[in-house]
Amino acid sequence: MTKTLSYIKPYGGTAAWAIVIKFVGSIAELFLPLLLDYIIDDIVPLKDIAMVLWLGLAMLACSLVAMFGNIWANRLSVVAAAKMTHDLRYDLFKKISYLRSRQVDEVTVPSLVSRLTSDSYYVNQMVARTLRLGVRAPILLIGGILMTFIVDVYLALVLLACVPFVIVSVVIITKKSIPYYAKKQANSDDMVRAMQENISGVRIIKALSKGEHEKRKFRGISDRLGETDYSAKKVMSLTNPLATLILNLGLVVVIIVGALMSDGAGSVLAVLTYFTMILNGMLGLSKIFVVISQGVASADRIEGVIELDHSQPVGQYPQGDKAYAVQFKNVSFSYNGVENNLSDINFALKRGGTLGIIGATGSGKSTVINLLMRFYDVNEGAIYVDGQDVRSLPPEELRARFGIAFQNDFLMAGSIHENIDYGRKLPEEDIACAVDSAQAREFISGLEGGMQYELAQKAANLSGGQKQRLTVARALAGNPRILILDDASSALDYETDAALRRDLAINYPDTTKIIIAQRVSSVKSADIIAVLDDGRQIGLGTHEQLMRDCEEYQLIYRAQMGEDI
Ligand SMILES: Nc1ncnc2c1ncn2[C@@H]1O[C@H](COP(=O)(O)OP(=O)(O)O)[C@@H](O)[C@H]1O
Ligand SMILES: [Mg+2]
Repeated sequence: MTKTLSYIKPYGGTAAWAIVIKFVGSIAELFLPLLLDYIIDDIVPLKDIAMVLWLGLAMLACSLVAMFGNIWANRLSVVAAAKMTHDLRYDLFKKISYLRSRQVDEVTVPSLVSRLTSDSYYVNQMVARTLRLGVRAPILLIGGILMTFIVDVYLALVLLACVPFVIVSVVIITKKSIPYYAKKQANSDDMVRAMQENISGVRIIKALSKGEHEKRKFRGISDRLGETDYSAKKVMSLTNPLATLILNLGLVVVIIVGALMSDGAGSVLAVLTYFTMILNGMLGLSKIFVVISQGVASADRIEGVIELDHSQPVGQYPQGDKAYAVQFKNVSFSYNGVENNLSDINFALKRGGTLGIIGATGSGKSTVINLLMRFYDVNEGAIYVDGQDVRSLPPEELRARFGIAFQNDFLMAGSIHENIDYGRKLPEEDIACAVDSAQAREFISGLEGGMQYELAQKAANLSGGQKQRLTVARALAGNPRILILDDASSALDYETDAALRRDLAINYPDTTKIIIAQRVSSVKSADIIAVLDDGRQIGLGTHEQLMRDCEEYQLIYRAQMGEDI
């Protein structure tokens, strides 16, 4: 929480002004009933019209100060709260982009989304409301009580007798509502999760006609969120009527006492007005109580992420064989620490050579890449790049050596050139060579504007094969030492896929290549091929060796023969 509060510091001036102005405005408001009492009870009987007018003007001045002070202070509070939330959200976003993959797995993506959205909103509300009500509510409450004493001691005592009842009921009710708010936050995580799954999986949901099922599921989650919200509000909605009831009972007593022993109608009128102010003060405090407890919970969730240590320790490890660009030595790994997702992986790849990795979906192909680029650390064994253990290289330096294209890789709205260059300011000839090698030249020249053709968000205005060619071109354009194509040519026809491999060999002879595919034809010409099955390496060698020694490889080959080569 302290960390979150430190975000207000840069806007401390604005916040302080908001408080000061609010203070002045609230004090001005407090004087209104007192002036009214004085006019009615003391001046009107004297029939001093001039004095009545003067005091009327004073009342007008007080109301104007109260009104404009309130508006101005509220605006300043909103500004201070918005700016600090902006900074907090920005830092959270920045942190998320640095998090280690394992940390993202632990917090989960939906929870990160809801921390960025609803939690930062709650923090915003906490700051804005506290600035708005934090001064005003106590002034109205305490000031109101003091003022009633000035107006009429007996009436004030009646009022004072009611206050504890009101405070107790407000506190009890507010306390009861708080667990509901915590539950609401958890429910909103579920909601974001469901939303994300549905929006990103919309095609598969349609293809499998699961629309109805998903709608029902979503309705359930949405209903739960609605119910908790309703329960919280149902409890909270008791506060206002109950407090009003107690004060109204007190009011009846005030009127009776007033009729019996007060010194005038003005006093009764003033006390009635102070009653409303005191009530507002009390409700204001209960609101602050709620927004603070909600805001603190959210601030803790945000800080929980901001304070994660994302740095990856870089240590001293024994060196591997310098002759190899990439080497896996007895590597085993598990995402959840329970069962291995990779077991005893071994291969070594010469500089400029090509490794093919083949295996069914879920066999661990992408996990090999995750370990190679050190998105996760191995549990056993070691991985070497150019003879150095990946854990002994600073992660940025390690990752700078790779050019990578995934199957459904990310393209942003912007021109084709921007998407390939990706802010790296690469030489034009490198970009041209990458575009040619990725077999993207032909379709790009057919587009209006060529390289300047504007892509829609997620490149929705291109076909799957066109998108893949662009992501491959992007990976190549930086002239990486190691190129990784993770299922990145699956949407290309056989001919284009073959042309891509041919051009890679001709134009990037020194680049070490790792090609992951489900098609034998994509890896057939590789120097070595690793066959993965359920996290185990069941074959390693050239196409010819595997055709001789690896039964599963032969099976895959035969199954694909009909459409192959
Ligand atoms: N972040 C993750 N957390 C937990 N399990 C994962 C994660 N990523 C992948 N897995 C699991 O690891 C296994 C291998 O996945 P992956 O390497 O992506 O397979 P492939 O790329 O061959 O399709 C699968 O069972 C998958 O469910
Ligand atoms: Mg994969």
